[in-house]
Amino acid sequence: MPTMAAIAVEYPGPAYALTLRKIEKPRAGAGEILIKVAAAGVNRADLLQAMGLYPPPPGAPLMLGLEVAGEIAELGDGVVRHKVGDKVCALLAGGGYAQYAAAPAACVLALPKGVGLIEGAALPEAYFTVWTNLIDTARLKPGESVLIHGGSSGIGTAAIQLCAARGQTVFATAGSVVKCAACRSLGAHAINYRTEDFVQTVLEATGGKGADVILDMVGGDYIERNFHAAALGGRIVNIAFQSGMRATVNFTPMLRKRLTFSATTLRPRTNAEKGAIRDALLRDVWPLIEAGKIKPVIDSAFPLADAGAAHARMAGGEHIGKILLLS
Ligand SMILES: NC(=O)c1ccc[n+]([C@@H]2O[C@H](COP(=O)([O-])OP(=O)(O)OC[C@H]3O[C@@H](n4cnc5c(N)ncnc54)[C@H](OP(=O)(O)O)[C@@H]3O)[C@@H](O)[C@H]2O)c1
Repeated sequence: MPTMAAIAVEYPGPAYALTLRKIEKPRAGAGEILIKVAAAGVNRADLLQAMGLYPPPPGAPLMLGLEVAGEIAELGDGVVRHKVGDKVCALLAGGGYAQYAAAPAACVLALPKGVGLIEGAALPEAYFTVWTNLIDTARLKPGESVLIHGGSSGIGTAAIQLCAARGQTVFATAGSVVKCAACRSLGAHAINYRTEDFVQTVLEATGGKGADVILDMVGGDYIERNFHAAALGGRIVNIAFQSGMRATVNFTPMLRKRLTFSATTLRPRTNAEKGAIRDALLRDVWPLIEAGKIKPVIDSAFPLADAGAAHARMAGGEHIGKILLLS
């Protein structure tokens, strides 16, 4: 039985540990592509899953790892769009913290020209999430303004760049001077939420109008504050509620401004739904990367065996952009 190295979660819960194990190497099933992983992205969701707070959706692999980049090692039955040896990145429902990962063909993208095998692992989770939330859910239109919370995160650095490259006015919140400088260098008006009130700054900068679209991963008291920072007809989309799943909210500004408030998750969507996002990324985002208008923002890279140190780096909250694991 062919084996490979992969990361296992020991003692799932607040004191979890990540250890390298030998396990059976996966095969490409029908409609799947087996990727020899060069690098995997670390996501906040991986930390939550290891702590036992974010179980994988039914049918998803139990192993950590929502995105990889590498070379195609094997094609499953019915896969025609790629060939063995192609350099690709892929969105996974799990299993990326390993030397090989099987991905649904609908979630596999050829790497954009100019992007290397390692940096490619920084793209899928961030751009699938940002695209579908800003464009599909929030219906962001040309010329509109956007407020992105968590601007220095993996998701935030992608959202700022996508919006800036499309010519939108971008505001981003972050919690330090260094993180604000990073957001500014990517094209955002940065707001240090520890020293400034983002509602006041956005309203002042837009002549009292507010932001047309808000992408939020904070929740808690930000829910009501987002209503105040939003423009008439504004659309707010939450992808996480890091400050708390419960809030007491005054909905008056939502009524008065005819706001839309939504929340979404990417991981449990069907392969057909993810495939539609994949096609939009290839059409509208990959050309911006190939033109140098969007670049993967990589904070740090750790050997796969040091996955625990990579998680500690993310838990510490000092990172800017993506943290990667090298297989
Ligand atoms: N729903 C979905 O489908 C989906 C998909 C992908 C990711 N997500 C979520 O999106 C978030 C980002 O993911 P990631 O992997 O990019 O993680 P990450 O890099 O660790 O980002 C977390 C960010 O939250 C920011 N933050 C925390 N409290 C804040 C506050 N009060 N105001 C502004 N920013 C605040 C942190 O920045 P500061 O240090 O500046 O506070 C940090 O940049 C996570 O919560 C993740 O679960 C959801």
